Amino acid sequence: MACGVLELFIWVSIILPLFCFSSGFTPADNYLIDCGSSTNTTVDSRVFVADGFYSNLLSTPQNILASTSSNSIPSSEDSSLYQTARVFTGESKYTFPITQSGRHWIRLYFYPSVYGSYNLSSVNFSVSAQSYTLLSNFTPNNASFKEFSVNVTSNSLVITFTPSNNSPAFVNALEVVSVPNTLITDDATLVNPATSFKGLLTQALETVARVNMGGPAVTPVNDTLSRNWVNDQVFLVERNLAMTASNIAGVKYPKGGATADTAPPSVYGTCTEMNSQSNPSSNFNVTWQFTVDPGFQYFLRFHFCDIVSNTSNQLYFNVYVDSWNVAPDLDLSTLTLNILATAYYMDFVTPINDDSKISISIGPSNIGDYPNAILNGLEIMKMNNSVGSLSGVASLRPSSPNAKKTKWLVVGLSIGLFVAVVFIAILCFMCRRRKLGSSGHSKTWVPFSANGGISLTMGSKFSNGTTLSSVLCARPVIDPSLPREMVNLAEWAMKWQTKGQLEQIIDPNLVGKIKPESLRKFGETAEKCLAEFGVDRPSMGDVLWNLEYALQLQGAVVQNDPDENSTNVIGELSPLVNDFHHGDDSTVSGAQFEVSSVDDLSGVSMSRVFSQLVKSEGR
Ligand SMILES: *[C@@H]1O[C@H](CO)[C@@H](O)[C@H](O)[C@H]1NC(C)=O
Ligand SMILES: *[C@@H]1O[C@H](CO)[C@@H](O)[C@H](O)[C@H]1NC(C)=O
Ligand SMILES: *[C@@H]1O[C@H](CO)[C@@H](O)[C@H](O)[C@H]1NC(C)=O
Ligand SMILES: *[C@@H]1O[C@H](CO)[C@@H](O)[C@H](O)[C@H]1NC(C)=O
Ligand SMILES: *[C@@H]1O[C@H](CO)[C@@H](O)[C@H](O)[C@H]1NC(C)=O
Ligand SMILES: *[C@@H]1O[C@H](CO)[C@@H](O)[C@H](O)[C@H]1NC(C)=O
Ligand SMILES: *[C@@H]1O[C@H](CO)[C@@H](O)[C@H](O)[C@H]1NC(C)=O
Ligand SMILES: *[C@@H]1O[C@H](CO)[C@@H](O)[C@H](O)[C@H]1NC(C)=O
Ligand SMILES: *[C@@H]1O[C@H](CO)[C@@H](O)[C@H](O)[C@H]1NC(C)=O
Repeated sequence: MACGVLELFIWVSIILPLFCFSSGFTPADNYLIDCGSSTNTTVDSRVFVADGFYSNLLSTPQNILASTSSNSIPSSEDSSLYQTARVFTGESKYTFPITQSGRHWIRLYFYPSVYGSYNLSSVNFSVSAQSYTLLSNFTPNNASFKEFSVNVTSNSLVITFTPSNNSPAFVNALEVVSVPNTLITDDATLVNPATSFKGLLTQALETVARVNMGGPAVTPVNDTLSRNWVNDQVFLVERNLAMTASNIAGVKYPKGGATADTAPPSVYGTCTEMNSQSNPSSNFNVTWQFTVDPGFQYFLRFHFCDIVSNTSNQLYFNVYVDSWNVAPDLDLSTLTLNILATAYYMDFVTPINDDSKISISIGPSNIGDYPNAILNGLEIMKMNNSVGSLSGVASLRPSSPNAKKTKWLVVGLSIGLFVAVVFIAILCFMCRRRKLGSSGHSKTWVPFSANGGISLTMGSKFSNGTTLSSVLCARPVIDPSLPREMVNLAEWAMKWQTKGQLEQIIDPNLVGKIKPESLRKFGETAEKCLAEFGVDRPSMGDVLWNLEYALQLQGAVVQNDPDENSTNVIGELSPLVNDFHHGDDSTVSGAQFEVSSVDDLSGVSMSRVFSQLVKSEGR
């Protein structure tokens, strides 16, 4: 009897793992909702429950379940999930209880159409999950399926729909489903420089592309994690350079490596390889190109499985991400214990992409007798930016560490600040002149002559393209094409200054570059100059002192800039300001900066100032 129990135990322990393997991953959390629907809807053997089943998880100002007639959805969009929708007229939240923390899929289905009395063809709304922005000012056109994943560490996941621009928000269906903990780990390899990357666990990810190279589209029913994989043809740059191979039955999963959850056999068992017939020299790459949003980093997962070689150590190739060779002389056999057709994957993280394209290429290496290269599958996922968003405007910092660009930015900023100094000084001259004219009040500096109108030509350019008009607001001082209140820059700037929000109107190129303290000092000084009563306006000396101080506050930032040489420019400006301060008898003659009563500025060495500025800008 005991023997029988033992036998049963052994039998069960052999069978159970096999059973688990064959049934695939069972998600601990598995919410599938057919929003707006009164009945359960089965799609590919998965049941999306009626809206009412989880309505207790939703808090919304108005309960709106909408539906559309089936013939309004083209047959090409066969998803039965698009027949009904939940409409949100105000901010609405789903709060999903989470039984097992870790990464979860968030999948959203949208079909813009007319649903009863709701015309949802051109809506505008945002969706967030926990602290991450998933979609912002989103307008779905055509059927949109969006897949995200976030690591949920608390016992609930809140998904918020926020309508914008007076339009409602909506969703046709949604999924919140556990992801196996082993699917995405914390580490990957940085594309450039090729060092290790840590921190994937806290990333929110959005699936940009999931491609089955050389194979058919794989639908959720053929994927243990209900994923969609598409064929690679549309992404190939030159289709004639590529051909396909297939051996799905031969795919082996190694112990402790890729599993069917990583990618199903239908992905590993097909590949795109070099078509040597198209080019007998076999010295070419096969390239795929993907459209992405610039300003984000991307997580890339390459799936390989050598189903083309007859023996081990035959196939060596290179893998490129844009122009970076991320896997030189890749030899899959050494990575898979010399067992051919073994599934293998590699993870990479790109730098912040400043282009709207990512190119992936494979090409032959110099090693090996049979020049060839293969790729079986590829996943591209957008990573949240530094403000936790997967959507909208790129982060404010310059998109690539381009030394030259940064240098020019600093030069532009310095010149901008300096021109602002001059501009404000002139405003003060003007103000004080009026004041002197009325009060006879005496000061030490030389006033304007009676006839001294001032005209500033702020639109003209410095030799290398830095426009004087890019003072701080990147616009001319007087711009009649703008709304009335914005026409007069000084007045307009003061409006923002009094609100304490001068940073709202500064040149976007300078945002983040100009130090708040410096900007505040600058604004305060300008504000004082424009005071209504003469007695409230500062003396020229005070103005210069304050502006110099503002420059120094700014200088402190620029000096922290790791970029080469950029510090010198500010350093050189201080003497310039001093020049301005103490002056000699030269007059302004630069075409760039035209002051009609030059004689009046007899205390200021403007031409010298500008010749130096142009000089320092030109290096
Ligand atoms: C819908 O599916 C849920 C969950 O599977 C089930 O509990 C419920 O009875 C189903 N409702 C109908 C009307 O079939
Ligand atoms: C989720 O994040 C927590 C904390 O960052 C981490 O400990 C955990 O391993 C992560 N889990 C997964 C599955 O990513
Ligand atoms: C719905 O809105 C779209 C875009 O605003 C418009 O083109 C369309 O005619 C509207 N449909 C109906 C039935 O009102
Ligand atoms: C929407 O899909 C239809 C057919 O599927 C296509 O003809 C149309 O160009 C698409 N519109 C947009 C904006 O993608
Ligand atoms: C959506 O709304 C935002 C803010 O309300 C607006 O800036 C944006 O232009 C709108 N998008 C579209 C496509 O209308
Ligand atoms: C998907 O699964 C179905 C049934 O499970 C099977 O008949 C079909 O061949 C599979 N397709 C692929 C591409 O694996
Ligand atoms: C393949 O592409 C990489 C990256 O763009 C390039 O450096 C290399 O020269 C290309 N190889 C061939 C054979 O064209
Ligand atoms: C593998 O073997 C097949 C059949 O024997 C042959 O046609 C093919 O050229 C071989 N491939 C390589 C890369 O050796
Ligand atoms: C994504 O968001 C997390 C948490 O908000 C943050 O730690 C991480 O740095 C962000 N990722 C990037 C690439 O900025």
